[in-house]
Amino acid sequence: MIEIAIDGTAASGKGTLARKLAEKYNFIYLDTGLLYRKVANELIIKKKNISNDLEYHSSVIARNLNFLEIKKEDLRSEETAKLASLIATHPKLREILNLKQKEFVEENKKKFSGCILDGRDIGTKILPNANFKFFIDASIEVRAKRRLLEKNISFLHEKDEKCMLQFLIKQMNDRDKLDIKRSISPLVPADDAYVIDTTFIDADELFLKVTKIIDEI
Ligand code: DC
Repeated sequence: MIEIAIDGTAASGKGTLARKLAEKYNFIYLDTGLLYRKVANELIIKKKNISNDLEYHSSVIARNLNFLEIKKEDLRSEETAKLASLIATHPKLREILNLKQKEFVEENKKKFSGCILDGRDIGTKILPNANFKFFIDASIEVRAKRRLLEKNISFLHEKDEKCMLQFLIKQMNDRDKLDIKRSISPLVPADDAYVIDTTFIDADELFLKVTKIIDEI
């Protein structure tokens, strides 16, 4: 099975890239951030997010996680993302979710000729022997603008838009810091990853760049 690992910062374009690659090559795709977001969301629903034993409660939820029940639409809020990043610093939770991700790859080996996983520690931890590793990043301003566009707010006064952008920049900066500085599986490019900056290129250009690398090899 061909393995493609895609890591990177929030709104860098890694998710769109992963989906397009999965479609082109007919590979199975897993957005691993959704697992952390789902656990965070369950904590909020069960009002365990204010508990002082977050690691225990998130581990219980993670053990019973059903991949098929995860719907991206319910998990988009910044509150969920922030908590996901916080609980992602807990070793026990990571251990459970890592195992689930590896099981997912194993289970799909017979059905698909390739798999694509995107997240923060795919190239370094989940698929250390991946055939291709990509690390995607972009400037914080550009990423915040992309996030704002994704939110699909039809009309915003110029002043409100600026305010919202500042809020998103702060949220994303805080989350990046937590993801990069945590001691366990921090967000870093694998030594053998292709590092691509998408500040000045759009999703189509990124897709072309990456498919060129894959198809050449
Ligand atoms: O990709 P995302 O923005 O949906 O991820 C939400 C958070 O989950 C992210 O800030 C850190 C955590 N995460 C992680 O630690 N490891 C992964 N492989 C994927 C996500």
